[in-house]
Amino acid sequence: MFDLIVLGGGPGGYLAADRAGSAGLSVLLIEKNKLGGVCLNEGCIPSKTFLHSAKVFDHAARGEVFGVFTENPRLDQAAVVARKNKVVRTLVAGVGQTLKSSKVTVKNGTGIILGRENRQIRVQCGEEVFTSRHLIIATGSEAVIPPIDGVKEGLESKSVLTNREILDLQVIPEHLVVIGGGVIGLEMAGYFRTCGSQVTVVEMLDHIAGAADREMADLLQKDYERKGIEFHLNCQVTNIKPGSVEFTDSGETKSVDADYTLLSVGRRPVVRGFGLENLGVLVEGGRIVTDAQGRTNVSGVFAVGDVNGVWMLAHAAYREAEVAVNTILGKKDFMRYQAMPSVIYTNPEMAFVGETEQTCQDKGIKYKKVTLPMNYSGRYLAENDRGQGRIKLLIDSDREYLLGCHVIGSYASEIIMSAGILIETQMRIADIKELIFPHPTVAEIIREAVFQV
Ligand code: FAD
Ligand code: NAI
Repeated sequence: MFDLIVLGGGPGGYLAADRAGSAGLSVLLIEKNKLGGVCLNEGCIPSKTFLHSAKVFDHAARGEVFGVFTENPRLDQAAVVARKNKVVRTLVAGVGQTLKSSKVTVKNGTGIILGRENRQIRVQCGEEVFTSRHLIIATGSEAVIPPIDGVKEGLESKSVLTNREILDLQVIPEHLVVIGGGVIGLEMAGYFRTCGSQVTVVEMLDHIAGAADREMADLLQKDYERKGIEFHLNCQVTNIKPGSVEFTDSGETKSVDADYTLLSVGRRPVVRGFGLENLGVLVEGGRIVTDAQGRTNVSGVFAVGDVNGVWMLAHAAYREAEVAVNTILGKKDFMRYQAMPSVIYTNPEMAFVGETEQTCQDKGIKYKKVTLPMNYSGRYLAENDRGQGRIKLLIDSDREYLLGCHVIGSYASEIIMSAGILIETQMRIADIKELIFPHPTVAEIIREAVFQV
């Protein structure tokens, strides 16, 4: 019998297994596909590898601005995919090695929960049945396939893609249509536009970038439009045909050319087909219901990562995994989500943490707002020729601490964590002013903005 069985080897599952194994628990991790899950194999890492190639290409193509002259730079998509595969292989091997050193037993196969007998949870993998005291479910999420005419045929003919297929695409489409202007849609739209595709984004809402601050999302959209990406908001896709996509815009049917179409309309937790019902685990709204320790309604059973649907982010999964394992080990710990950083790795990057203007207004929080162009940072200006970046701080009017930070511009992903710490610790604005930031860094923009309060 194991102390812990972990179902799923993505960020939530592998980190939970590693932490538990390192703490001395006997752990079995069951993964049906590849260690690293969506994040390493078809999500975070592959997409960021692509986006880095696009950034290098963009720099090379516009090198003159920086006094560097290159002749006819060319992006070879097959080479980009090959490099991505190499990066993925290295990281996946690293996860395997880490699990080995923390003495985790890894089984490749689909784990099926059989139920509980004599206080032991029973899980089948292939011909074998394993038992354990605790179970962590980390089965992740899968792409939503919208019920649009022509989707099935498009998927079969490989002209309609999800994140999985597009991150293996060996060619640069002439016309790419992206259905859904959320995180995946924006990252991939930016990549393929930089590589030369005509890109059209069709979004059903009146704004892009989901939960991001609306003003900042509009700025990103304008930047993308300047680069030639076409947006159709408030639109419903009605038909995907070979070579084109049809959608309705204010009642009018329109059509755009598409040799490839990306479906990026959201992801849903994987909760079916592996026996959750045999333990009576509560699933509501398509996600496993958990408390602040990651506990489900069934004693000894936890759910971490995308499957609990709280935040579908790898770093959320990591921390949830730690909290669940600490709870199993009898250590006090709980999830706090108020300073969860989000990054959209577009070019320019967009990152945010804490409240947006919309959430402040919905919650009736009184706030002050400071916005500054990123050009206030010398480092930013030194490295950018198109100074369109912006930072926005939201400050609690009564208590003078940071509620939210929103950044568009290079290094946004790297500097957002400093703002996250300031929010998490509720540091007073007066105290933040006394912090020393290294110069010249883009992070100094936070200090600049604070002094405008
Ligand atoms: P997953 O990574 O989905 O892993 C679940 C694993 O469980 C899978 O390997 C699956 O094979 C396995 N499994 C499922 N059922 C069973 C079973 N019955 N038995 C055995 N194994 C099973 N997040 C970020 O924070 N930053 C990013 O930049 C980012 N980029 C992304 C880009 C894309 C294109 C996508 C699609 C997602 C991205 N994400 C990003 C989200 C991130 O990938 C997920 O939040 C993260 O992978 C969730 O981890 P997880 O462990 O919950 O699930
Ligand atoms: P998303 O939820 O970010 O965006 C989906 C978009 O599609 C929304 O704007 C929604 O309004 C729109 N939409 C839904 N149905 C539609 C329809 N029928 N027609 C047109 N538009 C429609 O989902 P996405 O982009 O698929 O990403 C899934 C999740 O993966 C993200 O929410 C995020 O948690 C994670 N992710 C994180 C990344 C990061 O951290 N950088 C990168 C990529 C994904």
